[in-house]
Amino acid sequence: MAADVQIDPWSSQQYTDYARLRDEFGIEPIDPVLEELDDPPPIFRRNIVFGHRGIQPVVRAIRYDEPWAVLTGLMPSGQMHFGHKMVLDQVKYFQDLGAQIIIGVADLEAYATRGIGLEEGREIAVEEYAKNYLALGLDPEQAQVYFQSRRAAVQRLAFLLGNRVNWSTFQGLYGFDGETTMSHAQAPLVQAADILHPQLPGFGGSRPILVPVGVDQDPHIRLTRDLAEATRLFSIKPTEEGLGIFVKAEEDETNLRRVARRLEIAEDDVVPELLDRAQGVLEEIGYSDLEQNVGYRALYAKGAPAGDRLAIDLPLAKLEQELGELGFVAPAATYHRFMSGLTGDKMSSSVPESAVFLNDDVETAEGKIGRSVTGGRPTAAEQREKGANPYKCPIFELYLYHLMPDDEDLTDIERQCSGGEILCGQCKGIAKERARALLEEHDAERDEMDKDVERLVRYD
Ligand code: TRP
Ligand code: SF4
Repeated sequence: MAADVQIDPWSSQQYTDYARLRDEFGIEPIDPVLEELDDPPPIFRRNIVFGHRGIQPVVRAIRYDEPWAVLTGLMPSGQMHFGHKMVLDQVKYFQDLGAQIIIGVADLEAYATRGIGLEEGREIAVEEYAKNYLALGLDPEQAQVYFQSRRAAVQRLAFLLGNRVNWSTFQGLYGFDGETTMSHAQAPLVQAADILHPQLPGFGGSRPILVPVGVDQDPHIRLTRDLAEATRLFSIKPTEEGLGIFVKAEEDETNLRRVARRLEIAEDDVVPELLDRAQGVLEEIGYSDLEQNVGYRALYAKGAPAGDRLAIDLPLAKLEQELGELGFVAPAATYHRFMSGLTGDKMSSSVPESAVFLNDDVETAEGKIGRSVTGGRPTAAEQREKGANPYKCPIFELYLYHLMPDDEDLTDIERQCSGGEILCGQCKGIAKERARALLEEHDAERDEMDKDVERLVRYD
């Protein structure tokens, strides 16, 4: 893992150079993936979700109608605002595509990093977030909200995963040092366990998991993908003749000795046994040109193209799980941009003027929109003559992200704005009207949600 502290999940830094983030950190562009998805919503078409890591297994699961899940976490602090809505828009789309939706309340992380008590966190999560999620259209069937502090499997898994990473990696990845509290130091492991626990037996087993996040969470995603990899008994690599499936030689072979004890066979027999079983799995998929090399701990699928890796990885992970190992396939992530605040800085729960909250009454929301900075010119005459800049305007972002799902409406406003045909006051009038409609509808929905919340929220 490369040592870097450029992305800090706990700072209030704002990232804007998304192309650079993509190139430097290896986040892949989302565009080619969109061609494989049915009817992607505006948030994808408009490149608000701009990148991904390892999404192919998810696309495959969608195509073959196989099980997969979306896992997302929420910090139970502050109020839910329009910026938070972005993750939910993705979640709803993926729910329609067949994903199970699992939402972890990061109450342990909120305690460790923001001093929020567990009781307080529970109240905020249910009243502020869960109800808003439902009102925004999350279907409580095939969805659940759970708490880090209450799900024993998550905490147990965090501990197990901790055995695969050391302090110097955390120092490099997060800038942790001697002042870091032990609770804060555990938070990334708990988050990794959040993301991986839907693959535990009893929670759905080995399967693709997608995590929609903002780029600030990327260090956690990289860590979690590495940890998933570290749970595996097999690795798959391209060779000259096809694909090679290798039994991973862990230091001291603790993993192999563990398997030997479980299967009650001699340690020397573990590698041949694993290769035989892997061969069985591949034969079942339909491979016939298979050759073992026990000395190299390898099984070769001759003539298999590199792309077959996807088809083999999950069945092997399932085999590993049958053998009592964790067998986690690496989770995927999508990355979205952040909205600018109405104040021109970051949108933040702790700066009420910077964001429209989903619980704002209409007058409050209209006031915030009215006072927002814009990309307009100092005088009306100048704006009519030279046009304004929608790309430096939080009002335009409101349209882009939330208030103008229709692409034609959006291009109209974009054109009128840059051509000076519309002035900011008038434009804000449209934004107020649309925000009002959204909030009123949302309020009405929200009042109906008490019963659904009980179905959605789990305390185990
Ligand atoms: N760390 C995340 C945040 O600051 C919250 C979180 C906890 C999370 N567990 C997660 C996000 C799992 C995504 C997936 O918002
Ligand atoms: Fe922003 Fe609208 Fe003014 Fe353009 S006209 S700068 S979109 S407020």
